[in-house]
Amino acid sequence: MGTSEAVLQVLSGAGPRVFGSGPCFSPSDSTCALNLHLKCSRRRALRCFEFLKCSSMLQNGDRRLSSGFFGNTKVDSPWLQNCKCQEAESVSGVTTEDGNGTWFVDNAKMLNPMDTMVNASNVLEFQDLQQLKRENEGLTSNGANGAVRDTFDKISVDSIEDEAWELLRESMVYYCGSPIGTIAAKDPTSSSTLNYDHVFIRDFIPSGIAFLLKGEYDIVRNFILHTLQLQSWEKTMDCHSPGQGLMPASFKVRTVPLDGDDSATEEVLDPDFGEAAIGRVAPVDSGLWWIILLRAYGKCSEDLSVQERVDVQTGIKMILRLCLADGFDMFPTLLVTDGSCMIDRRMGIHGHPLEIQALFYSALLCAREMLAPEDGSADLLRALNNRLVALSFHIREYYWIDSRKLNEIYRYKTEEYSYDAVNKFNIYPDQIPPWLVEWIPNKGGYLIGNLQPAHMDFRFFSLGNLWSVVSSLATLDQSHAILDLIEAKWVDLVADMPLKICYPALEGQEWQIITGSDPKNTAWSYHNAGSWPTLLWQLTVACIKMNRPEIAARAVEIAGKRISRDNWPEYYDTKRARFIGKQARLFQTWSIAGYLVAKLLLADPSKAKILITEEDPELVNAFLSANPRRKRGRKNLKQTYII
Ligand code: GLC
Repeated sequence: MGTSEAVLQVLSGAGPRVFGSGPCFSPSDSTCALNLHLKCSRRRALRCFEFLKCSSMLQNGDRRLSSGFFGNTKVDSPWLQNCKCQEAESVSGVTTEDGNGTWFVDNAKMLNPMDTMVNASNVLEFQDLQQLKRENEGLTSNGANGAVRDTFDKISVDSIEDEAWELLRESMVYYCGSPIGTIAAKDPTSSSTLNYDHVFIRDFIPSGIAFLLKGEYDIVRNFILHTLQLQSWEKTMDCHSPGQGLMPASFKVRTVPLDGDDSATEEVLDPDFGEAAIGRVAPVDSGLWWIILLRAYGKCSEDLSVQERVDVQTGIKMILRLCLADGFDMFPTLLVTDGSCMIDRRMGIHGHPLEIQALFYSALLCAREMLAPEDGSADLLRALNNRLVALSFHIREYYWIDSRKLNEIYRYKTEEYSYDAVNKFNIYPDQIPPWLVEWIPNKGGYLIGNLQPAHMDFRFFSLGNLWSVVSSLATLDQSHAILDLIEAKWVDLVADMPLKICYPALEGQEWQIITGSDPKNTAWSYHNAGSWPTLLWQLTVACIKMNRPEIAARAVEIAGKRISRDNWPEYYDTKRARFIGKQARLFQTWSIAGYLVAKLLLADPSKAKILITEEDPELVNAFLSANPRRKRGRKNLKQTYII
């Protein structure tokens, strides 16, 4: 059975049902959303203690909670018990459980656990550090010996890490007394919060990895399970609902009055699927990151019970189903709108942006590892394997650029109508931007940002390239060449702060047309070739995978020189990343967590394996026996890549 056939059967339900049954599979079924509406109610009766009681509107037939239900009734699943606020040991001030299965939790912490603002102690630490630095400079200029300098370096480095941990913990968000994520930014200097007080799925990934590496698994498990609940939320924009399986971009824990009881409030999770986000962008990357984190959680904690849960398995399948659904595409790459990933504003990345393809490939491999073998999953697995083969061929073959390939494109013939065209996408050589001719190094190469008919986006996008290395979407040679390019173009990509989100910037008329004259994305700022410290962690994983950690170590050292002094900005501006970004938040959590993860992994590189996927020999063989590069002949007309 070919890819499309298999997927079609899966989707139409013609084959064995993979996605279970029950009332939750209709997009228009609002009972489903209600069923999943978990609430944690709270009364203000006590002065020092909050009375916490989780209630739920769960009803029969909820696929998520087939293993139990709430209230005072027995609950089998360990996580459901969490949601009953029983994981209160992680919240300070827990005293006792009352007879009704409720908990008393420290009032101050619960009232607004997110509002413990960045405090004087950090500022003090910073001043101490400056003092130490000044002393060190004095010592150095007086010819002090290396031992003193080493000691100083150690103290200052450790104190930056300590500060990062302290800030990361302060960014933790609680729901029903349990930690479930980290807030995007806690910038005391910023007057408009926008949605930076949300827990973003993509922003939480480095936080989650940092906690995993520290052996603190609860917050990651809670995050995985709570966001899973949100996956089936009723989501509409102007009466239109996006596909089932979509994960939100972010969510917020809100305290709202409890229905019918003036003296009580309750906590609810309020997700944003893009219906409130600036530009109304759909977060395609969220579900992909969720799968990647789920695998990392299992690998790191060795607790496979989470990924084996029926609801989690169904969650994985829903994401896959959404991504593997057939559309009008000719390409195996995922077709998305602009702003569907880390770059969540208009930046001309609609179509088949590399970042999404790399995360897609990575998530497919991770899902394949975690999906329980069962009859009902056979078709889905077949579709997944077919897609992996086709996707890796497509990206490796058509997205790759180095000086040799550029020269090939430079000499392309156009308007080739045939099955065997060399210039398949009808790329006009005039499209090659002048900057690239100068920029492409003799040694090194990269995957371009996007490929469409008659269009190659030649910009270098860091995250897509790094994650292609991490996930083995790029070949070994390509992966080394990507790192070679980063080394060769260090002054452009790293300069004074790692790492450029993309290179180069869109300027002038191009900026006007492509960004819609976006004042936040002016040249060399924010998404338009700004520098994002969070990308340090992905750089580190990629370098460790290729056994070249020294590259990441160099970048981390550069970041360490100013990131804490600058108060952990979200991004930096200018060609060389000299300035803190025009509108950058300070104390941006994923800048903090990205730095921490890079440090932790460099200290113990073996831990990076929780994120890495190696090339699968089974896929390589399947690829060799069904090489799409073969000329189209009669025999190949129905070629499929069944493994
Ligand atoms: C900005 C970034 C996005 C990030 C969000 C929260 O919108 O573009 O990638 O998730 O801020 O930090």
